[in-house]
Amino acid sequence: MAVLITGGAGYIGSHTAIELLNAGKEIVIIDNFYNSCPVVLDRIKELTGKEFAFEKCDIRDKDALNEVFNKYSIDSVIHFAGLKAVGESCQKPLLYYENNIGGTVTLCQVMAAHGCKTMIFSSSATVYGQNNQSPLTEDMKIGSTTNPYGTTKYFIEQILTDVSKSDVEWSICLLRYFNPIGAHESGRIGEAPNGIPNNLMPYITQVAEGKREHLFVYGDDYMTPDGTGVRDYIHVVDLAKGHLKALEKSKTQKGVAIYNLGTGRGYSVLEVVAAFEKASGVKIPYVIAPRRPGDLATCYSDPSKAERELFWKAEKGIEEMCADAYRWQHNNPNGYED
Ligand code: NAD
Ligand code: UFG
Repeated sequence: MAVLITGGAGYIGSHTAIELLNAGKEIVIIDNFYNSCPVVLDRIKELTGKEFAFEKCDIRDKDALNEVFNKYSIDSVIHFAGLKAVGESCQKPLLYYENNIGGTVTLCQVMAAHGCKTMIFSSSATVYGQNNQSPLTEDMKIGSTTNPYGTTKYFIEQILTDVSKSDVEWSICLLRYFNPIGAHESGRIGEAPNGIPNNLMPYITQVAEGKREHLFVYGDDYMTPDGTGVRDYIHVVDLAKGHLKALEKSKTQKGVAIYNLGTGRGYSVLEVVAAFEKASGVKIPYVIAPRRPGDLATCYSDPSKAERELFWKAEKGIEEMCADAYRWQHNNPNGYED
């Protein structure tokens, strides 16, 4: 039986594919390459020495999804496919609702039709919204999201919970990621954003490579120790391993289970800059800029539920995250275009 990985050519999906293959799992990847490219599939094979199935497929295309389920024996799905740019989601909310929510509904319909009722879903700390205090725990009230992207995650969590209530055979795991950064230690796969990066670490690595002049630090007047935003950065390989643990758990547990995947430790923007400079030996010039609309001062997890129930704990620290992110950027200055 195979695990279907939707969006498996993307940043987190590709790292997770490697962990699954290394654990001896059979996988089928689908992706429409909206935000990724085929080269990553070769890199996954190169790094694991293993073959796997791939189908170019859009999760909104029910016929194409049905063909995938007819062709392979799939008993579980790790569902990464989705659009994730916060700013773009404000410009194109309908695209985000159609792709993320519509795509997930279609995927669930096809899964159910084929008797496949196990799903691990990529949710986000963004569902905690603006009204909760860190450390964030899974039992807090969610919602009050600040942008359409975040709202898609909140709605999908609700939809999957309703699906599970309607049919006790479903086993659904909602993984709330905090801030994934870093790359595979080989430097062969990593995050390859199109255009100007939205997120802190890819921006820093592009400054380090001389592709951008300096970092803009969005606000230094937050109620945090140094005034800059605090986040719970987690190494993408630790995050990927969390999916394997969630998959194991889903074999023995029905219904919906929710887990934070974070380290439980917050770092400010300036602390990340300092850690990056130490790990890479490269100076990162920065200028203080106005706050970015919608940003929170502080967001970090209480990851203890995942440790208790999944036997998963993040192992890699901020310096390893920075060193691996830098290695990836340095070896692939133009991402997968090289
Ligand atoms: P990514 O963009 O690198 O990967 C997503 C992949 O899904 C891409 O390869 C894209 O081409 C594919 N895709 C998008 N729409 C599709 C569709 N309709 N059909 C088929 N494939 C489609 O993003 P990522 O960082 O790897 O994120 C993976 C998931 O985790 C996303 O759902 C994202 O919202 C969620 N998440 C990411 C972060 C983060 O900071 N990276 C944080 C929290 C949650
Ligand atoms: N930041 C800068 N300069 C930049 C980019 C970011 O100062 O160029 C700051 C932000 O203001 C914030 C911190 O760095 O304080 C982290 O910002 P990111 O954009 O890297 O991450 P966010 O926490 O804003 O958002 C991320 C994902 C969202 C997700 C959210 C919660 O991008 O998709 O985590 O999971 F919803």
